Amino acid sequence: MNLWGGRFTENTNEDVFAFNASIGFDRRLYRQDIRGSLAHVEMLGRQAIITTEECALIKKGLNGILEDIESGKLAIDETAEDIHSFVEGELISRIGDAGKKLHTGRSRNDQVALDMRLYVRDYIDDLDKQLKALLQAVFGIMKDNIETYMPGFTHLQKAQPVTLAHHFGAYFEMFRRDRERLADIRARMNYCPLGSGALAGTTYPLDRKLVAELLDFTAPTRNSMDSVADRDYVIELLSALSTIMMHLSRFSEEIIIWNSNEYRFIELDDAFSTGSSIMPQKKNPDIAELVRGKTGRVYGALMSMLTTLKGIPLAYNKDMQEDKEVFFDASDNVFNCVKLFTGMLKTTRFNKENMEKSASGGFTNATDAADYLVGKGIPFRDAHGIVGKLVLYCLDKNISLDEMTLDEYKAISPVFENDIYNAIAIRTCVERRNTIGAPGPEAMTQMLSECENYLAAT
Ligand code: ARG
Repeated sequence: MNLWGGRFTENTNEDVFAFNASIGFDRRLYRQDIRGSLAHVEMLGRQAIITTEECALIKKGLNGILEDIESGKLAIDETAEDIHSFVEGELISRIGDAGKKLHTGRSRNDQVALDMRLYVRDYIDDLDKQLKALLQAVFGIMKDNIETYMPGFTHLQKAQPVTLAHHFGAYFEMFRRDRERLADIRARMNYCPLGSGALAGTTYPLDRKLVAELLDFTAPTRNSMDSVADRDYVIELLSALSTIMMHLSRFSEEIIIWNSNEYRFIELDDAFSTGSSIMPQKKNPDIAELVRGKTGRVYGALMSMLTTLKGIPLAYNKDMQEDKEVFFDASDNVFNCVKLFTGMLKTTRFNKENMEKSASGGFTNATDAADYLVGKGIPFRDAHGIVGKLVLYCLDKNISLDEMTLDEYKAISPVFENDIYNAIAIRTCVERRNTIGAPGPEAMTQMLSECENYLAAT
């Protein structure tokens, strides 16, 4: 059914109809659309804009449509222009004239603005749960690996020893911030646009506060033109989703490196990896690669929305319909990426021996050797120079700092004593780092209990 046509004398060109229609993708808004209509009609009834009987009839009709769509009894018919026309048309065909009153004091402009907000809000809540599951998986790995030593890297060069708990703790912070971002966006967007009409409000005595309350919004939006023209929250969310993907992509990159034949820090579970059609020995980290790959697509959605909106004059323009396909694609992908990544992490085995062996090579304890000299009264800059000489000596002999004899040490600086070996042991290097946020066991235990409290509270 077309919701308009009175002023037209010709039928819409077929291609124009297809080009204009959004039912192919906005059909997924049926729950939000019906929920919004139920609140609108409840308000129309309470304000005596329609009769109590009409209100009851419309509600019954809408609930029936919802049930029938959910059960599969009613197929969303793609001959309708959009989901709003579909639901309204179906309502009228079910209950007759009363159904024609549903759209009193409403425009599709404020209706779609509402549907989209409700959808985005539901999505934020679902994604938040998924992010929490990811944080729980990360936390589980942290808890089990306070003493799993590994090299920390800068420039992808071994830098100083850390632990797996500490390394994963960095990701915990990133995803925690992502959840905070979602909560910020949710709070800022949680205002109800319904009742703004096409752009200028309406002449009916609508109770916008009641509708806002019925739909769990903080309050009605404050300007009717802004209400139908605003998609800032879609942009904000796409930006937050891009950041989530950026985090996941960095994490994926590490998974891929750690899973490589050269590193062998981890072993991915068979259920979360794939093989090669030609090379029988292969077990590939496809999930991590796809997550990394899909990141570009999500960034693209953000850029697409920013560009679509940049030239639109107030208030509603059809360009705004373009928010849906990009947002649905990006948001579905992010949800799946978080979910799959969590599954992959939970089944990954960590090769602790290889990690520790790697931490022992590459002079990760050179800073600690310098700190040792500082402990013996040598200024840090001089200590740095002395250890530089030790490293050069070791490189020449192809040995590590631990493999030098005390005589060799003393030849470079007489300050060295036998206690140097304990001072540069990997365990010592980690155990002595207990500043807030550091990998040492005291600092780490503190941080773990903070993370645990956060997970319990949110
Ligand atoms: N399908 C439209 C959208 O997504 C619904 C609003 C249509 N409003 C209009 N005046 N044509 O934006």
